[in-house]
Amino acid sequence: MSSPKRRHLVPAVLPLVGAIALSAVVGRAQPNASEEARLKKLDTGPKVIDVAKYPGDQQQAYKLFQSKCSSCHALARGINTDMVLPGDWERYIKRMMFKPNSGISNDEGRTLYRFMVYDASARKAEALRRAIAALAPPERAAAIEKVKAVNGAFSPQ
Ligand code: HEC
Repeated sequence: MSSPKRRHLVPAVLPLVGAIALSAVVGRAQPNASEEARLKKLDTGPKVIDVAKYPGDQQQAYKLFQSKCSSCHALARGINTDMVLPGDWERYIKRMMFKPNSGISNDEGRTLYRFMVYDASARKAEALRRAIAALAPPERAAAIEKVKAVNGAFSPQ
């Protein structure tokens, strides 16, 4: 299969592939101004969590969070985000895991999910309660169950 036609197909397609790849990169590098400002605010906020009162396994998980969630952006982004719901973290951790070179295994993803949910229930409890209250009843019950699976002491009220 090396007809002249075939040989010319590849060079003809390359600029197109390049243009698509470039637009994807530029699109990522230049989000709209308010989105950029929002992420910058997260990235430049506090960059440590006081885990002294967290259970031992969550203190261990904090170390994993520090090493795995700071390779693409500031660790502070995960610390200062207003994302608190367990369903959001399920989706989000998967999204991070499946990015090329995320370096996050399935087991680590699970540990990180549990850490983010525990941290939200401990450090952002009011925001988490508000987010849960805003859900429709079936989703509300499911969210409470997911938080309690990680932090049995969490009270939705
Ligand atoms: C492979 C690179 C990569 C890794 C590893 C990574 N992130 Fe991200 N993260 C991104 C990118 C890119 C964005 C912005 C675009 C997006 O949301 O996909 C982002 C955005 C975020 C946001 C902002 C969400 C929003 O819009 O408010 C949070 C929070 C976050 N990451 C937390 C984490 C946490 C927690 C971890 C560890 C489990 C993590 N990230 C690991 C690449 C990464």
